[in-house]
Amino acid sequence: MKGTRAQYVPPEFLQWSPPSGESVRVFFAPGRINLLGEHTDYNGGYVLPGAIDRGTWLWIRRRPDQVWRFGSKTESKIITVTSESLNYHAENGFANYPAGVVWALRQEGMDVPGADCYFVGNVPQGAGLSSSASLEVVMAWALMALADIDRDRAMVATLAHRAETEFVGVPCGVMDQYTVALGRKDHVLSLCAGTLVYNWIPVDLSSVSLVIVNSNKPHHLISSPYKKRRSECDAALASLQHAGVPIGNLADMDVAQWAEHRTLVTDPILQKRVNHVVSENWRARQGAQWLLHGDLTRFGEAMRSSHESLRDDYEVTGSELDALAETAWTVPGCLGSRMTGAGFGGSTIALVYSTALNDFQARIEEPYRRRFGYSPTFLTAQLGDGVHEVHERGPTP
Ligand code: GLA
Repeated sequence: MKGTRAQYVPPEFLQWSPPSGESVRVFFAPGRINLLGEHTDYNGGYVLPGAIDRGTWLWIRRRPDQVWRFGSKTESKIITVTSESLNYHAENGFANYPAGVVWALRQEGMDVPGADCYFVGNVPQGAGLSSSASLEVVMAWALMALADIDRDRAMVATLAHRAETEFVGVPCGVMDQYTVALGRKDHVLSLCAGTLVYNWIPVDLSSVSLVIVNSNKPHHLISSPYKKRRSECDAALASLQHAGVPIGNLADMDVAQWAEHRTLVTDPILQKRVNHVVSENWRARQGAQWLLHGDLTRFGEAMRSSHESLRDDYEVTGSELDALAETAWTVPGCLGSRMTGAGFGGSTIALVYSTALNDFQARIEEPYRRRFGYSPTFLTAQLGDGVHEVHERGPTP
């Protein structure tokens, strides 16, 4: 534990959770970007995401009862749930995520204490940077710490994922929760979502910057097109399995096997979806090697191919993300750019030589604003650590 100064506690939190015999502890979980491997996780494939240096802070105080109260810097209401009311309630908004975690831990048979919880985040919502996984993972990690339960990061990710899929009802893959739980400073995670085997890959950002460009596209409910893509993949997989191809997931096929079996999937739309999954899985897997060998040129080209595949075959980009990525490809000093996350809105990421950063921003911003009537937002991200307790004073985003 560093320093001797008392931990900072936001006064807004103290207003509704006054000092008691229980101390306040502070935890942090990051958001994430994904460098390569989009819409591959729920197809059993590879992803290459990293935790970022933005995320969600949680101040938490144990309670003597089975009551959980959730407040946040951006919400005026305090949401209270009890063991009897641990169900999804649309009107509870963001509090459904931490409530879902309480539910998932209890489903797992864990004896978790009641708690007052106050969240402050600096991951822009709807930007495709996993603010929800960040909320879930910080809640799971903190509550298990309060209960003195041994924490395995992969297990925490799985519990948080269960909260999102079974309690909140979003049918996402495991990438986001794994990254937020397992992130490591200056590394990305090479994770096979089919086997859950992973490695950390170092990324040298000494001369290049990782730029997040938030399209600021007005937020749309993306859950239904996401579900549609999942069911299209399921349908393609069923056709292949029905014809006797011995695979459990689409990503079990490599490019050559897919070329051989392609005609077994007769619907041309489904063929395009599989084209994306198989090629993207290859890029995400190879991408880890290119990073290890410092081949950022090859890596940047793969980012572009990834975006083209998401645009043309998987059809999840939309004009805003296309405009951001396609303009980025023309800027000298930009090694590569693509959408990150589920798509349909949200952000692109770009690898840009640090010396070219100002030019990059200027060349993207103006034409985008002229075309769409609002500006994108630029953030330079560092690759940060996964969820952890904060001991030093003053994590005030
Ligand atoms: C969302 C989901 C992830 C993953 C991406 C697309 O972020 O939560 O599981 O499927 O979309 O790659």
